[in-house]
Amino acid sequence: MSDSNLTIAIVGATGAVGAVALKLLAERSYPAGDIVAMASSRSVGKKLPYMGTELTVIEATPDAFQAVDVAFISASAAVSRALAPEAVKRGVLVIDDGSAFRMEADVPLVVPEVNGADVEWHRGIISIPNCTTTPLAMTLAALRGAARVTRVTVATYQAVSGTGAAAVRELDLQSGDVLAGRPVKVEEYPHQIAFNVLPQVDSFDDDGYTGEEHKMINETRKILHDQDIAISPTCVRVPVPVTHSEAVQVEFDRHVDAKEATRLLSSFPGITVMDDPQASVYPMPIHATGRDEVFVGRIREDVSHPNGLALWIACDNLRKGAALNALQIMDEAVRRNCVKPGQPVVGSD
Ligand SMILES: NC(=O)c1ccc[n+]([C@@H]2O[C@H](COP(=O)([O-])OP(=O)(O)OC[C@H]3O[C@@H](n4cnc5c(N)ncnc54)[C@H](OP(=O)(O)O)[C@@H]3O)[C@@H](O)[C@H]2O)c1
Repeated sequence: MSDSNLTIAIVGATGAVGAVALKLLAERSYPAGDIVAMASSRSVGKKLPYMGTELTVIEATPDAFQAVDVAFISASAAVSRALAPEAVKRGVLVIDDGSAFRMEADVPLVVPEVNGADVEWHRGIISIPNCTTTPLAMTLAALRGAARVTRVTVATYQAVSGTGAAAVRELDLQSGDVLAGRPVKVEEYPHQIAFNVLPQVDSFDDDGYTGEEHKMINETRKILHDQDIAISPTCVRVPVPVTHSEAVQVEFDRHVDAKEATRLLSSFPGITVMDDPQASVYPMPIHATGRDEVFVGRIREDVSHPNGLALWIACDNLRKGAALNALQIMDEAVRRNCVKPGQPVVGSD
């Protein structure tokens, strides 16, 4: 089977991730006639420009999936919970962008470069990881070629598009208001985001970590098939439109030198090393935005730990962090001939 004979639904086509999914399909010259743009009832009839033509948005309802082969759902966890089982009942492979199913035992959580084979055991739904988890999992998967990873500490610098299109508009509006000396309106976050940094992404749990931080821990372990890695994240929202960055410290069960790490990272699919600190060359959101790769730089041996490495990651959260990973999962399922599950599907009666 090739992807050219699949009808693809984009649920959340009017949102930040949906817009990038359509851009990626256009880059592949995917025929407009094989794409169904879906969103909420608010957007019914809205026209989305696509390769010189227009897609008309329809409401995402169970019956709208009748003629669909693969559905990318990028809306909210509640929408995924309501619609994914309905789509699966109708024979659709759901590739879900939200957190609804990621940790369910019968749902693969996939970054194709790391655990592509996991698509084979899907029962109708495959989840894509949180946009901070994907680049971290790829980086750790590359470094595991040198030694066992025992512990990771990571601080994220997350772009506002990770919250959705409304947060990007809020950053723009607040920035203009601050520069003009006007009072700012705060809606998307607990505090102003323009000219500020928020050490909170998601709500806090009883242990003092946030939901986003727990996602990084649990999802990274699931993707790497390693429940023993100790991970301590601090997730931070920064006033950047697109691209999440991460400062990472990795501890191994033996010494790993920076050259060996650089060689492993450079040869890992989907990673580009950008590392010439003397020339001030390192990954930044202005490089990574609009690019497919995970960029890694500042690769150095940790002065505080004999078996430690420190490095810096930047990755477009809407591309590899979301829509691109979803398309690559579809490609992987097509390549492994498992778009349709061989077993009873999740949500069937
Ligand atoms: N942004 C990222 O970096 C990123 C990365 C990984 C995962 N994700 C996940 O992807 C999902 C979408 O994120 P986003 O950033 O694209 O959000 P967004 O910009 O706020 O877009 C939300 C989309 O969901 C649609 N929607 C809302 N209610 C719906 C309903 N009842 N039925 C069908 N569609 C509905 C909206 O349609 P209307 O326009 O009609 O309201 C809109 O198209 C979230 O689950 C998020 O956690 C995002």
